[in-house]
Amino acid sequence: MQSRYLKVYEAWQKDPENFWREAAAAIDWFKEPETIFDKDQGVYGRWYPGGETNTCYNCLDRHVAAGQGEAAAFIYDSAMTGTRKTFSYAEVLSEVQAIAAVLRNHGVEKGDRVIIYMPMIPEAVFSMLACARLGAIHSVVFGGFAAHELAARLDDSKAKVVISASCGLEPGRVVAYKPLLDQAVDMAKTKPDYCLILQRDQLHAPLRYEHGDRDFAEAIEAEKVNGTQVPCVPVKATDPLYILYTSGTTGQPKGVVRDNGGHMAALRWSMENIYGLKPGDVFWTASDIGWVVGHSYIVYGPLLAGTTSVLFEGKPVGTPDAGTFWRVINEHRVKVLFTAPTAFRAIRREDPEGEYIAKYDISSLQALFLAGERADPETLKWAEQQLGIPVIDHWWQTETGWAIAANTAGLGLMPVKHGSPTRPMPGYALDVLDDAGHPVPPGTLGNIAVKLPLPPGCLVSFWEADDRFRKACLEEFPGYYKTADAGMIDQDGYVFVMARTDDVINCAGHRLSTGSMEEVCAMHPDVAECAVIGVADQLKGQVPCGFVVLKHNITRDHAMIKKEVVELVRNEIGPVAAFKTVMVVDRLPKTRSGKILRGTMQKIADGMPWKMPATIDDPAILAEITAILKANGYAHEGGGLKQTA
Ligand code: COA
Ligand code: AMP
Repeated sequence: MQSRYLKVYEAWQKDPENFWREAAAAIDWFKEPETIFDKDQGVYGRWYPGGETNTCYNCLDRHVAAGQGEAAAFIYDSAMTGTRKTFSYAEVLSEVQAIAAVLRNHGVEKGDRVIIYMPMIPEAVFSMLACARLGAIHSVVFGGFAAHELAARLDDSKAKVVISASCGLEPGRVVAYKPLLDQAVDMAKTKPDYCLILQRDQLHAPLRYEHGDRDFAEAIEAEKVNGTQVPCVPVKATDPLYILYTSGTTGQPKGVVRDNGGHMAALRWSMENIYGLKPGDVFWTASDIGWVVGHSYIVYGPLLAGTTSVLFEGKPVGTPDAGTFWRVINEHRVKVLFTAPTAFRAIRREDPEGEYIAKYDISSLQALFLAGERADPETLKWAEQQLGIPVIDHWWQTETGWAIAANTAGLGLMPVKHGSPTRPMPGYALDVLDDAGHPVPPGTLGNIAVKLPLPPGCLVSFWEADDRFRKACLEEFPGYYKTADAGMIDQDGYVFVMARTDDVINCAGHRLSTGSMEEVCAMHPDVAECAVIGVADQLKGQVPCGFVVLKHNITRDHAMIKKEVVELVRNEIGPVAAFKTVMVVDRLPKTRSGKILRGTMQKIADGMPWKMPATIDDPAILAEITAILKANGYAHEGGGLKQTA
C-alpha cells in the first residue's frame, strides 16, 4: 500500500490547528476546549486551553460505558514468578476505583503529587490510573534507582504519598525496595505523609507505622468490600497528568511535566497512525513503567485506544531463556511489539540462528518497533531476517512523550533506510542547525531542533522550573526546542540520529547522566577529580567508564579504591547506572581553560579517529590515557568495542 504519510504530514503543515482539532475529537471531553492552541500561555504556548477532561475516564470508564467492559485491558505476564493474569477493562476500573478511594482516604486531592516506586506488577499501573482519576499527579520512579535518586524526586515533587512494594525481582536476586524507600524518606527534606506498601510473597517488609507506612493490599480490600465508587475528577486539559524525572547534565534530575489533554490527543493519534493498532489488538511494549516508553505505550496509549496491553515482568534473556519474547507473543497473540534495540542484541547474542524463534508460533506479530537508543543496522537486519516482518526504528525522548520521527504502520509504511528512524511525525517541524543556530544543507551533521511550538503530548515545562526548561531546551536556538541529539536529514527528508550533544548516555536503552556519576565519584574521599564517559558496548550500546585522579597523599591500594567508587555509584544512583569500570589516572586531559576533553577521551576509548584538540593544555596526557585504556581492553584501532562480561 502506498503510504499516506506525506498527505497527512502536509495536511498538518497546512493547518496545524485543524489537524489537532480533529485528533482531539477522538477524546471524550467534559468541556470542549475553547481554543486549540494559545501561544500566549505557558512557556511556549498551551494546547486545548479551556478544555476539561479526565485521562482515567478516557482510558477506562469510556470503554466500559460503551459496552467494552469485558474486553481485555491488560495481560500481566511475569516470567519471574510464572504468573499470567488477564484484566478486563471493567476489572481494571474496579481496581483503580479502590486505589483511588485509598488515596483519597489518605488525603490525596487534585494537584497533589504521588510517587510510585514499584516493579512491573499490575498494582503499579492501577496506581497510575488511580492518580489520574483523582487529578493527582503521579511520578513513577524506576525500580533500579537507589535511595538518593528517590530522595531527590521526593524533594523536588514534594509528594504527599508514596506507593511502593516490598520488593522487585531481578534474575537471581530479590531487590528489597523497602530499605531503599526508608533511606530515601529519612534523607529527604520533604517527607511524604504516607507510604502505602504492597507486600509481595517473595519478601515481606517490616512496616514503620509511626512513619506513616500502611499496608496497601489491606486498604484496597476494605474499599473493594465497601464497593466504594470514586468519580473521575474533571481536570483542565492543561493540568499536569504526571511528572517523569529524567537525566540531565547534572545530578539534579529534570521533572518533565506532561498535561492531560494534549497527551491524550497525541497518544490516541499515534496508536492508530504510527503503530497501526485498533481496539482489540494486543500491543506489547517490553519496557518498564519507570520510563517514558512504559508510560506512553504500556499504560496510556493502549488504553486510550481500547487495545490490550501486555505488562511483562522479566528480561529478554535469562528469564528463563532467549525464547521468552517468542513465548509471550505466541501465548498472548501479540500483534505489535515495541522494545529497545538492546533487548534484541541480548537475544541475538544468545540465539544467533533464531532457534528459539522456530519453537513458537509468532504468526500474530505484524511489526516490531524499536526506540530508546540508536538502532544499529546489524541488529535491525537480524530482526528483519529472523522475524520476516517490518522492523521500525523510531526516535523519541522522555521530553516528547511520543515519536518525533517514525515510519507509520497505520498510514502505510515508507521505504526503510537502515540507520534512520524515517521521517518527522505531524506536529514536528525539524531543522538541523549548526552551532550558531543556522540551518545546514541536507546530509550535513548538526544539532537536530524542533520548531516551536512543540506538538501536543510533549512536555509543557520542568516541574516548578520554567527557567531551567527555557535555559536547557529553548535558549540556545531561539524559536526551537533543542533535542540535544546530533544528526542529519537527508535529501529525501529521512532523519538520522547519531549521538547526544550533552553528557547523557544511553545504556541498555536507559538514559543516564555521566555528570551525575561524576558528582558521585567526586564524593569519594580519596578522589581529587574525575571524568565519566560513555564507551561503546556490544550489548548495551554504551556503558559508563570512569577515570579518577587521586589526591596526592593517597597510598591506599588502587583496586580497593576502584571497588569503593563502583559501590558508591551503585549505592547512590542505583544498579541501573551499570557503572562497573573505573581507572585510576595521574592526570586528566584538559583544554587551556580547564575543560576536560571527554569527547576526545571517548573517541580514543572507542578506537575512533580523533584529532588533537587545538586548545589542549598538555598533549602528553592523551598518550597516558590511551595507554591505560589499552591496558583495560579499550581503544582498539578500527573499533574499540569491548564485550560486556
Ligand atoms: N530494579 C532493580 N534493579 C534493576 C532494575 C529494576 N527494575 N532494572 C535493572 N536493574 C539492575 C539489573 O539487575 C542490573 O544489576 P546488576 O548490575 O546487579 O546485574 C543493573 O540494574 C543493570 O541493568 P541493565 O543495564 O538493564 O542490565 P541487565 O544485564 O540486567 O539487562 C538487558 C540487560 C539488555 C537484558 C536489559 O537492559 C533489557 O532488557 N533492556 C531492555 C531495554 C529496556 O527496557 N529499555 C527501556 C526503554 S525502552
Ligand atoms: P529517553 O529520554 O530515555 O527516552 O532517551 C532519549 C534519547 O534516546 C534521545 O535523545 C536519543 O539520544 C536516544 N534515542 C531514542 N530513540 C532513538 C532512536 N530511535 N535513534 C537514536 N537515538 C534514539
